[in-house]
Amino acid sequence: MEKDLIIALDFKDRAEVEDFLEPFQGEKLFLKVGMELFYSEGPGIISYLKERGHRLFLDLKCHDIPNTVKRTMAVLAGLDVDMVNLHAAGGIRMMEAAIEGLEEGTGGKRPLCIAVTQLTSISAEILQEELLIERDLKETVLHYARNARKAGLDGVVCSPLEAGMLKEDIGQDFLTVTPGIRPEDSAGDDQVRVTTPAVARELGSDYIVVGRPITRAADPLAVYRKMKEEFTGGVSQ
Ligand code: C5P
Repeated sequence: MEKDLIIALDFKDRAEVEDFLEPFQGEKLFLKVGMELFYSEGPGIISYLKERGHRLFLDLKCHDIPNTVKRTMAVLAGLDVDMVNLHAAGGIRMMEAAIEGLEEGTGGKRPLCIAVTQLTSISAEILQEELLIERDLKETVLHYARNARKAGLDGVVCSPLEAGMLKEDIGQDFLTVTPGIRPEDSAGDDQVRVTTPAVARELGSDYIVVGRPITRAADPLAVYRKMKEEFTGGVSQ
């Protein structure tokens, strides 16, 4: 299965993205556009990046009634992105509707669709005391991932530390897209449980998502190349 590093473009506008991409000329990248950048720039940012030959993960975490999600996904598929996501908490019917929308909105191959199970900002305490969900956090992550598979999704966003467990339960072909990645020698920031690219590889991640270690590096291209090589084992993908 393909392994790749996805750079999180957590920037506020296109000018910042252009500055960041300056040293990467000639590199074909896999980039993640999230809510901040997409809501500030609109679909134009997607065509700008696609025209430069990059692959795109549009991280909008959709969560609404099935009909609305279906129609939204048809629009997102029309942007020619490579990966989209949604909240598994929307239920199996909503996830099925998302796949229908993606298929409707693409002529050929639909984008990969992955689910967020529980956000990493949700603790066991929040789950039980605020959200009144009595089950254990890990049990809900596994159950939501199983629901995602049932609905025909391709995988989940999760911690590399959960990747092995999820693949064993659901299937080795179930994709794990994992943030919380830091180079070996880095200081931590707000990510609590972090993993190096080499360890993420050993644990079975398919795609690692890396933001600040690359976007805030003095030499982003060098850090990108090093982390990607550590993750893919030096094999060009
Ligand atoms: O800068 P950093 O490498 O921590 O960025 C990680 C990226 O992955 C950010 O865009 C963040 O929103 C995203 N993400 C995450 N944890 C999740 C889901 C997404 O860090 N559980």
